[in-house]
Amino acid sequence: MNRKKFLQLSSLGLSAVSLPSFSPSAQKPIVISTWDSGMAVNAAAWDILSANGKSVDAVEEGARHIENELNCCVGLGGYPDRDGIVTLDACIMDEHANCGAVAGLEQIRHPVSVARKVMEKTPHVILVGNGAQQFAIENGFPKEPAKLSDDAEHAYRDWLKKSTYSPVINIENKKQNGPFAPNFFDDGTPNHDTMGLVALDASGDLSGAVTTSGMAFKVHGRVGDSPIIGAGLFVDNEVGAATSSGVGEEVIRICGTHLVVEFMRQGMSPEQACKKAVERIVKRDPVKAKTLQVGFLALNKKGQYGAYAIQKGFVYSVRSGSENKIHPSKFLI
Ligand code: GLY
Repeated sequence: MNRKKFLQLSSLGLSAVSLPSFSPSAQKPIVISTWDSGMAVNAAAWDILSANGKSVDAVEEGARHIENELNCCVGLGGYPDRDGIVTLDACIMDEHANCGAVAGLEQIRHPVSVARKVMEKTPHVILVGNGAQQFAIENGFPKEPAKLSDDAEHAYRDWLKKSTYSPVINIENKKQNGPFAPNFFDDGTPNHDTMGLVALDASGDLSGAVTTSGMAFKVHGRVGDSPIIGAGLFVDNEVGAATSSGVGEEVIRICGTHLVVEFMRQGMSPEQACKKAVERIVKRDPVKAKTLQVGFLALNKKGQYGAYAIQKGFVYSVRSGSENKIHPSKFLI
């Protein structure tokens, strides 16, 4: 910015560094979800929100919708781990900071609803592996074998040929030709799309949920950010809510969504808060950051939303009384 422009801004009482970032006007109810697949998820959540339903019910319904689709990235059709086993992670958090999560859950169709039961029926927050499955069955969830989607099956067979037994580096949409193209690595390996959604209901209460099959071909037992409260999801009903998608390890290291909400508490817009969290990841290891993707998505108490990602390619879906669309996220690199 040249000196003349700076002085013009200064005379208007605006500083070059404090210009507001994109932050749509306040609205409620509203639901926002990661990725373009969030459009269908939002539609399911909107049925509840538009009827003055509770945000916690809306986010659960949205997550259940995509779990039912048995696609390559979420639910029983998702990418398996390196041993060929589909293990699912999910969480949910409501306006009272009640929260529940499951990790490494096998053969259960709706991990988000098991997470809700953990929240409502136990004094705990996270159940894992066999214990989570046992709890699910005790609570009426039927056991159902995983059924890899065609995409997941194909990708896993290809990956087995290499037999590298290391997780694929996660660079979402690296090979895309447009903002909404499917996610593929340069070698043709598809990547996962974690579904995270946060909602503000007509009463002004915030909730969120996340569901995923996690990183493709991960080491058996690996847990990402998605079921970790404060990493893949955080809700503070006084301030806002945030969720994430991408390499979970990087999000966990900075307690990513908790950080985003704390930045909003300091007065930042959702987009500014997401950007600051992305910068924290990149600052830690700028070279490594070039090889991976993380995207944050946030909604504040006024119904303003925003997102930011490390790389190009992260998109998110918004549904409110005035819009129903996919937005490309801004990105740092
Ligand atoms: N963000 C999803 C995962 O890393 O498992």
